[in-house]
Parts: sequence; structure tokens; C-alpha cells
Amino acid sequence: MMLELLIATRFEKVMGSGRTQPCLLVCENEAGEEVEVVAKLRGHPQIMPGGLLAEAVSSLLALDLDLPVQTPYRVEIEKAFADALPDAALRTVIQKSEGLNFGSAKWAPGYTIWPRDKTPSRDMKQSLTEIFAFDGLIQNPDRRQANPNCAFLGTDLRIFDHESAFSHFMSILPVAPWDTGGLAFLKDHIFFQSLRGGNLALDRFQGALEAVDESRLDAYIEAVPKEWNGQTTTGPKIKTHLMECIANFQHIRLQMETLL
Ligand SMILES: Nc1ncnc2c1ncn2[C@@H]1O[C@H](COP(=O)(O)OP(=O)(O)OP(=O)(O)O)[C@@H](O)[C@H]1O
Ligand SMILES: [Mg+2]
Repeated sequence: MMLELLIATRFEKVMGSGRTQPCLLVCENEAGEEVEVVAKLRGHPQIMPGGLLAEAVSSLLALDLDLPVQTPYRVEIEKAFADALPDAALRTVIQKSEGLNFGSAKWAPGYTIWPRDKTPSRDMKQSLTEIFAFDGLIQNPDRRQANPNCAFLGTDLRIFDHESAFSHFMSILPVAPWDTGGLAFLKDHIFFQSLRGGNLALDRFQGALEAVDESRLDAYIEAVPKEWNGQTTTGPKIKTHLMECIANFQHIRLQMETLL
């Protein structure tokens, strides 16, 4: 099921120094099994309007494209859970987050954050290329040296934090990814230097992308709670953007080749 529903049952900790202070929560699924998730709280003042929608749709698309994301969930926070938190500041944020929040399954121990200037092994190149292309499509400027939003274990990658995806909706003169300059933001991407000058292995990615049709995009949007929509970042706008990206992917590829 898309975006399975979990109920938060135990608070574990705030994750590191993240701007939006995602929280590690123990939850229960409908079968009564425990699932540990890292939850983005919709009541946190740093969460952008539409940010949880961007997180969810990006993850659902990534799953269909076989890109390495953790399973996304809807995480329900109930009043009794929020009221029981001992830390006053955190309790206020969690109380404001009563209802549905975005969560991603906690990854297994051993993953670490992608270090600055790490040289990827040759057999990782295709994954890197596909992640780079994905960030171009969803217009995600937030996978940079200063904030890699990518973890790895051996040759296995995990991408996360898609809250800033589709943020070009906010700009006054948005440039589409298939137009000149529309992918310029990818010059700051963590994989830009490693991918420069090489051949872009995107046939698999393009095939997977072209298998995503309008009804599939509708299903993503329907799976997401309506209250995650922002003013400018909305389900229908994301759907239109992705439909255009799929139809124009050949041009997006050309823009990527020019950039690299
Ligand atoms: N699914 C996950 N499993 C384990 N750890 C995770 C997971 N998702 C996020 N984290 C950890 O939580 C940290 C913060 O997550 P995230 O980047 O989504 O939040 P953020 O508030 O946007 O942070 P930042 O401002 O640093 O980008 C990550 O750097 C990572 O260490
Ligand atoms: Mg982050």
C-alpha cells in the first residue's frame, strides 16, 4: 500500500542537528508490528509549506524508479502521545504535529553520510547518474556538499530529505528542467564532479520513468494527506510538472549532457 499508516507509540530522540529536527519514533502498523521511523513533523516551524507533500511524492516516485529510498509512511501522532513528552520545547512542536506526519523507515545500522569529495567506485556510477537525473526532474537543489542528504554502506546508497523538491514553484520566473539553464542548480550537486565528462547511463532510468503514467501520478497525489499541500506546492502542480518531465525527458537528458 502507498504510504502505509503508522501510529507513533514511543519517542526515541531528535536526529542530530537537522534544521527541521526530525525525530526517531517507534511506531505500530495496522498489524501491530513495531516500525522505527525518522519523522518530519508538520508542526515544526522550519518545515516549508508543502514540504511534506514534496517528501512523499518524491519518495513514491523514487520507489517506482527503483531508486534507493527508505519506505515512506504516514505517521499519526495522537494527543496523548504528544502530551506525554517530558521536554517542553519538543512537546510544543509535537503537539502542533497532532495528526499525520511524514516518516521514512530508519535505515539499518552501518550507514554513514556521504563525505565531501568521496570518490565513488566505478560500479556505483550508474546509481549516481540516476540520482543526479532524479534530482533534476524533481528540481531538488538540496543534495550539496554542505548538505549531502545521502547515506551509504559499501556500494549501497540511501537518498533522503526531499522537502525542498519542487521548490522552483516558489521562484518568480521558474525555468523548466528541459529549458536552457533549468538544471544549472545541479552544479552544486554532490555527484556533479564525479559525473563530469562521462557517458550518462540513463536508458534504464528513462524506461522506468516512461512507465509512470498519469493514473500512477494521480495515485501518488491521492495517497498524500490533503493537509500536506502548501499554497504554491500542491499535488496538481506536482502532477503537471512530472507529466511534462516524462514527456520531455529526452530534452532533459540533453540539458544534463550539456551541463556535464
Ligand atoms: N530514514 C532514516 N534513517 C536513519 N536516519 C535518518 C533517516 N532519515 C534521516 N536520517 C538522519 O536524520 C538527519 C536529518 O534528516 P533530514 O536531512 O531529512 O532533516 P533536515 O531537517 O532537512 O536536515 P538538514 O537541515 O540537515 O538537511 C539526516 O542527516 C540523517 O542522519
Ligand atoms: Mg537534510
